[in-house]
Amino acid sequence: MRVVETVAEMRQARAAMGGGVGLVPTMGGLHEGHLSLVRRARSADDHVVVSLFVNPSQFGPKEDFDAYPRDLERDLRLLEAEDAHVVFAPSVEEMYPPGFDEWVEVRGPLTERLEGAFRPQFFRGVTTVVARLLRIVRPQRAYFGEKDAQQLRVVRRMAEEQRLPVEIVGLPTLREPDGLAMSSRNAYLTSEERQAALVLPRALELGRTMVECEGVRDADRLKEALADCIRREPLARIDYVAVTDYETLEELTVIDRPALLLLAVRIGSTRLIDNASLIPGGSEATEELRRRGGFST
Ligand code: PAF
Repeated sequence: MRVVETVAEMRQARAAMGGGVGLVPTMGGLHEGHLSLVRRARSADDHVVVSLFVNPSQFGPKEDFDAYPRDLERDLRLLEAEDAHVVFAPSVEEMYPPGFDEWVEVRGPLTERLEGAFRPQFFRGVTTVVARLLRIVRPQRAYFGEKDAQQLRVVRRMAEEQRLPVEIVGLPTLREPDGLAMSSRNAYLTSEERQAALVLPRALELGRTMVECEGVRDADRLKEALADCIRREPLARIDYVAVTDYETLEELTVIDRPALLLLAVRIGSTRLIDNASLIPGGSEATEELRRRGGFST
C-alpha cells in the first residue's frame, strides 16, 4: 500500500494505474462502515484509492473540525489490512493552495433543506473537496455511505452538473449490533449518551412499522409520533425529523411512494444523523430500496 501526501504524487500514481480505479473519500476516523466501502471497491475495481482528509471547508465556525477524530496510524493499519492500493492523505495546503478559487456548488432545494438548513456551509465544502478529489484521482467509481443520504444525492448531482465521468455508488449504512448507525462521531459519546443515542434507530424502526405494517400515510402524523418518541429521551434534542421523496428529498405530506425518513438529533453536544427507507404497500420499490428493506435494529 502506497501512502501519498501531495497532489503531484497522487496524479503520478494515478497515471501509472491501468484498468478501473475506485475512490473511497473519507475524513479518516475509520470504522467498519468505511471499510465496507473499501471492500466493495476492492471487489469491483482494479485499483482502490482511499483519501483521508478532514476537510475544513465543510465545517462551520462552531463545529467540531478541531475535535474530529484523527489517528493516521490506526487508519493506515486498517487500510493495509483491507489491501487498499493507495492512500491519499494530503495537507490542507495541498487541497486548498493559496489563491484557491475552484469552489463547486450545487444550488437549489436539494442543498438548502435538511442538513443544508442547519449547516449552511456544509454542502459547498463537500462538493468542492469531492470534485477536487475526483479531478485528481479520476476514478471510474466513487463510493459513499447511505447514512449521509443527502450528501450522497448532492454528490451525484454535482458529478452530473460538472460532467465528471464517474459512477457514484451508494452503499448501505452499517450498524452496531444494537442498531446505532456507525459514525466517526460516535467516538464523542459518553457511555450514558451512547445508550441515549439508541433513540435514533428506535425512532426509525417505529416509523417503518407505522408505514409498512400499520399503513400510516399521513407524514405529519408520522413525524409527530417519532418526535414524541425522541423527546422521551432526556439527552436528545431534535434538529429535524423529515419524511421525503426517496430520490429528490422533497418533503412529503402523503407517503404514497418510496420515501426516506431522515433524522438529525443532538445527543448532548454530539449531532447524529440517520435515515431509513419507507416502502408503503402498493408502491413500486426500486432494487436499491428492496436491498435496504433489511433494516432492523
Ligand atoms: O462523508 C464524509 O466523510 C465527507 O463528507 C467526505 C465525503 C469525505 C468529504 O469530505
